[in-house]
Amino acid sequence: MTGNTYGKKVLFSGMQATGTITLGNYLGALKNWVTLSDEYECFYCVVDLHSITIRQDPAKLRQSARNLLMLYIAAGLDPKKNCIYYQSHVSGHAELAWILNCYTYMGELQRMTQFKDKSAKHAENINAGLFTYPVLLAADILLFQADVVPVGKDQLQHLEITRDIAQRFNAIYGDVFTIPEVHMGKIGAKIMSLQEPMKKMSKSDENANATIYLTDDGDTILRKFKRAVTDSEGCIRYSREQPGIKNLLDIYCACTDQTPEGAVAEFEGRGYGELKQAVAESVMGIFRPVQEEFLRLSKDKAYIDGIIKENGEKADYFARKTLRKVQKKVGFPERIR
Ligand code: TYM
Repeated sequence: MTGNTYGKKVLFSGMQATGTITLGNYLGALKNWVTLSDEYECFYCVVDLHSITIRQDPAKLRQSARNLLMLYIAAGLDPKKNCIYYQSHVSGHAELAWILNCYTYMGELQRMTQFKDKSAKHAENINAGLFTYPVLLAADILLFQADVVPVGKDQLQHLEITRDIAQRFNAIYGDVFTIPEVHMGKIGAKIMSLQEPMKKMSKSDENANATIYLTDDGDTILRKFKRAVTDSEGCIRYSREQPGIKNLLDIYCACTDQTPEGAVAEFEGRGYGELKQAVAESVMGIFRPVQEEFLRLSKDKAYIDGIIKENGEKADYFARKTLRKVQKKVGFPERIR
């Protein structure tokens, strides 16, 4: 493993800057980020370069990126200890991505399931950025020499290609990149749609009842859970054969730090309605303080602007170190100061 100059091991992760984050994003990623943040030197990126692989309304993108940055803080990430910044403010992401593009094969990118899914969904706009999306993601992680990357299950393939690219580069040029490890929570790594529990909960679901958003109020959360698709078994078990119930139990366990066995024992002999009510309350209990803090932060423009500037500069400083090393390795001329 490549040594780093941070003192602690390095953690990197990020979320797309589009729309509002979901219960899946929260339980699969953000919640774990908060628990890991003391142990590591952390970089939490608001991923806006990746967002334009799908057409965006510029004003909305700018606003959702700022909201996401505030949500990271509202969820409990201290911006004095964790580097919370915009991807587009650190040009090293795009510069390293270009270099890594030259060490990534078309065949590898063609196999990526996200590319296949997104190109099917946006057939009118299958752009080159969508195709090379994983290379930019690899650059995000490798730029900071990250040891660990906490993500949900859907990002596993992206982490695998990141490791492959890094190993390929290191095999040619020596020990340049740290090979990152993935970190996934035991529960909550894949939260499913409330309407189609075999499908991942997603921001872009057309069915408004399928997804819980971090900005949903208590009534909306309760209503969506009440409408959650279950089954006709009438018995609460933690089993793949009851995907709707399993998903509700996963959400409950992730919100209450309970084990599936403990939760099943707790709900033994009780009905689906009671389970749904309890799950909704556990989610509200977690979301309420985040929503309140978000509201407070959104009124403090000067504070947030300060964080953006300070952390953007910090991220840029660390990113440049790796970038200069890589540029030298591949044979670019040294800079004359
Ligand atoms: P994004 O924005 O789709 O998702 C952000 C994080 O949320 C997790 N997640 C889920 N976890 C559990 N259940 C779900 N239903 C669910 N939906 C989403 C994701 O696994 C992710 O951890 N490509 C990334 C952003 C990115 C990135 C990176 C992540 C860009 N560069 C570098 C890590 C490292 C994405 O679109 O995540």
